[in-house]
Amino acid sequence: MKVLIAGCGCVGERAADLLHAAGHDVIGLTHSPESAARLAAAKPWRTEPCDISNRDAVTALAAKISTNIDAVIHCASSSRGGAAMYQAVYVDGIRHLVAAFPQAFALYTSSTSVYPQVDGEIVDETSPAEPDRDTGRLLREAENIALDSGGAVARLAGIYGPGRSFLLKNLLEGIAAIEGNHGQGRLLNQIHADDAAAALVHLVTQRLSGIFNVADDAQMTQRQCLERLCATFGLKLPGTREPDPNRKRGWSHKRVSNTKLHATGWQPQYASYFDALRDDPDLASSILGLVHAAGVTPLPRQPNIVLIGLMGSGKTTVGRIVTQMIGFQFVDTDHLVVETAGKTIPEIFAEEGEAGFRLRESAALRSLLGRRGCVIATGGGIITQPRNLPILRHLGYLVWLDADPERLARRTAMNNNRPLLNGEEDPKAKLERLLTERKPLYKALADLRIKTAELTPQETAYGVMESARVFFARRQKLESVS
Ligand code: S3P
Repeated sequence: MKVLIAGCGCVGERAADLLHAAGHDVIGLTHSPESAARLAAAKPWRTEPCDISNRDAVTALAAKISTNIDAVIHCASSSRGGAAMYQAVYVDGIRHLVAAFPQAFALYTSSTSVYPQVDGEIVDETSPAEPDRDTGRLLREAENIALDSGGAVARLAGIYGPGRSFLLKNLLEGIAAIEGNHGQGRLLNQIHADDAAAALVHLVTQRLSGIFNVADDAQMTQRQCLERLCATFGLKLPGTREPDPNRKRGWSHKRVSNTKLHATGWQPQYASYFDALRDDPDLASSILGLVHAAGVTPLPRQPNIVLIGLMGSGKTTVGRIVTQMIGFQFVDTDHLVVETAGKTIPEIFAEEGEAGFRLRESAALRSLLGRRGCVIATGGGIITQPRNLPILRHLGYLVWLDADPERLARRTAMNNNRPLLNGEEDPKAKLERLLTERKPLYKALADLRIKTAELTPQETAYGVMESARVFFARRQKLESVS
């Protein structure tokens, strides 16, 4: 089918990708020529600049692209504007689209903020949606235009995804709070951006008219959610406060039911926020990365020691000695990968390629979030994946064990468990190449570099342990001051 998507933000862009991948004809509209140009360069689907709040612009667009459009999805955002922006982008926007493409199935993307309930009750699509704010009322007006045309409304819960999670970002930046509900905080209704996009695609391709709530399967109070996040990221639970009466979408407290959408065959890929933290390769990493890049608050660091360095640099040997010295637990990302995959590293490389191995390695690293008191030995190539860097940085004190290729080649000659060296005529040359590529990455990431050439493993271990002690003692001092 031919689908017009008005607004290619977080959800619109994903919906366009999904529709295109399923073989549909997609035209993505963006409000500015600049974003149309940016998307046109990056995406395989067609993009057009169009200000949908301007009736003439939409009429001109319809004339240009011909009117045989099967479905129109409105998911443009008001860019945090107030009531005037809501009127222009939402109400006028959907009205113009419905008028210009009268034969198309119209899907309007709305928000669960239209439910003003505050008693923790379950709300479904038949529950009163009579918001007490102008912005909410405008959303309802826009919804009705789509419904009156025989179309659909998707009421989206709080959207999160890679690069976007106010919940986690605010917590990491120390500005989160538990609001109202007798110290339990309101119920959080959330949806991963991928699942929201999949729901929109499902509704238009099945032509399901009416209202549908789009939320995941796990509503939690703020307290429940923040307690678990604090355990995962080693943070103190934020304090409680009374709800902010000026919060843009008001304070509400309700359990948004997704039963109706489920019954039509939609299923979220991420049933809860915590499933996404575990399974989305980029969620945790991107938010840790944002906080680190902003530099306003130091990234929380877990009391672990993380060893990085090329294969053969002694991470496992040194790591085990450190573990014995300080009573930490030893963890090895390569072992975790082998355990969960149920096959050896050479088998994984042979069957899934290096890319498959790297995905498994990232998942193993994420599975360590929340662990404390560990010495973590990592695979030599773990630093080649940008998504691993914020996680490594957060997981602990980073020590780079640096050795020369000559020595590395001698140490790795013993076994054939390293697919990157197997079959190499000159393993030393390969290690030299790897070192040239990776050295800047190790260097940028490490808190400490130890040149192990003249040291015994015991001496290296001693250096690792003592410097880690100083590092954590200093941080503790800093934390008690701030
Ligand atoms: C690799 C190093 C290995 C293992 C895999 C790939 C690399 O770990 O993860 O064979 O890219 O350097 P060790 O460094 O523990 O050998």
